[in-house]
Amino acid sequence: MVLRIALLGCGSVGSQVARILLEESDSLALRSGARLQLTGIAVRDINAARDVELPADLFTTDAAALVKDADIVIELMGGIEPARTLIIDAIDNGASVVTGNKALLAQDGPELYEKADAAGVRLSYEAAVAGAIPIVRPIRDSLSGDKITRVLGIVNGTTNYILDQMDSTGATFDDALADAQQLGYAEADPTADVDGHDAASKAAILATLSFHTRFPLNDVFCEGIRSITAQDIDAAKEAGYVIKLLAIAEQMTGEDDDAGVSVRVHPALLRRSHPLAAVHGAYNAVFVEAEGAGELMFYGQGAGGVPTASAVLGDVVSAARRMVLGGPGRTEIATAQIRSLPVESVMTRYAIGVEVLDESGVLATIADLFAGRGISIESMRQNIRDAEQGVAELRFVTHRARESDLAATVKDLAGVDVVKSIISVLRVEGE
Ligand code: NDP
Ligand code: HSE
Repeated sequence: MVLRIALLGCGSVGSQVARILLEESDSLALRSGARLQLTGIAVRDINAARDVELPADLFTTDAAALVKDADIVIELMGGIEPARTLIIDAIDNGASVVTGNKALLAQDGPELYEKADAAGVRLSYEAAVAGAIPIVRPIRDSLSGDKITRVLGIVNGTTNYILDQMDSTGATFDDALADAQQLGYAEADPTADVDGHDAASKAAILATLSFHTRFPLNDVFCEGIRSITAQDIDAAKEAGYVIKLLAIAEQMTGEDDDAGVSVRVHPALLRRSHPLAAVHGAYNAVFVEAEGAGELMFYGQGAGGVPTASAVLGDVVSAARRMVLGGPGRTEIATAQIRSLPVESVMTRYAIGVEVLDESGVLATIADLFAGRGISIESMRQNIRDAEQGVAELRFVTHRARESDLAATVKDLAGVDVVKSIISVLRVEGE
């Protein structure tokens, strides 16, 4: 049996996928049960330099024609259009689709999964979340008999590299970002990474898979890492924490309006003993908590052409096996309808830094403000910030509190004379 493979895109990931399809043709045929014949590669510019040497006659700018004549379409162009239309065309033509396009899946995933299921074809996307790490299939298949209660992910390598540099070398955010750009982790325009948008796309995909409910990108609360200072990192370290950018999908079991799933991306304090605290550099990891399985952690390279190609090829072989044996399996179905919670309903712990006048009664005033909103303080540290000016820095960590109560307390704090400034407000996660 021969399966015709159309590749859309030949950038960092696509070029490696093409290379492996050609170089490993025999072993892939043995593993798939079919010969995987690369029929063409669609790009914008057929004369552009490529990361690997590939036969010139494979290249075309006519992606639509390539898709029409394929059994499996691998979409590695990125972006919403024309990727979306080409994927729908492929499904309508009866082809299975493999993609790494998190931006598209976060926006239109559920609609595309339904189309694929209705057409009886496969739509696979292991590469879309955390690059090489097998996480989509473990959640979709291996844990499909269990109930996931929380997913905590370090799913953006660039921001993990920056925060890790700040933590391990004392670098400022700007210096660590410049370093990440020099090493090729961060783009010249780092917005998608540092402002959390890339992680938010992955959070939407993980939440939809984990809770069998559609969580559109708009439901994902998103805060990036630009405001994290060397001072925040030091204060966290002193208290036994590390700061990580986390993608969180978490079931909240409150009463009525407070019951649902919170999907969010923000920097958070994690205890240094938490397994995710040991994820250094540009590595990714996803920590899954399930009722039966307990705690699981998936760790590895979240980006890069060769690692990501591994996930893509895994999906291709799996789709080919299904074609050989018959039946596509189901892609992902929204069988549940769990409420998506706004961030104001989140119950978590908080680390708050305030600059205050170092005078008698100040601590009592501040403690009253916390107590007035029903927020319990777990720990407090005081450092003298400026002895001459009589200014001290207070760092509080709270017990679990509701986000809306915490936000009101911060507003109260900002409004009293003894508080000179709010240094930072960060969530504490993973407990
Ligand atoms: P690149 O930007 O390196 O490559 C994109 C490729 O798509 C290029 O070859 C480009 O052609 C082609 N392309 C783009 N638009 C069109 C179009 N309109 N028509 C025809 N061809 C087009 O992307 P990556 O390889 O980095 O990423 C591919 C996908 O994989 C994205 O969805 C990304 O989010 C995802 N991904 C990437 C990871 C990574 O580490 N890079 C990790 C995980 C997922 P040309 O070369 O001629 O410009
Ligand atoms: N920019 C992403 C990262 C690439 O830094 O992890 C993989 O999605």
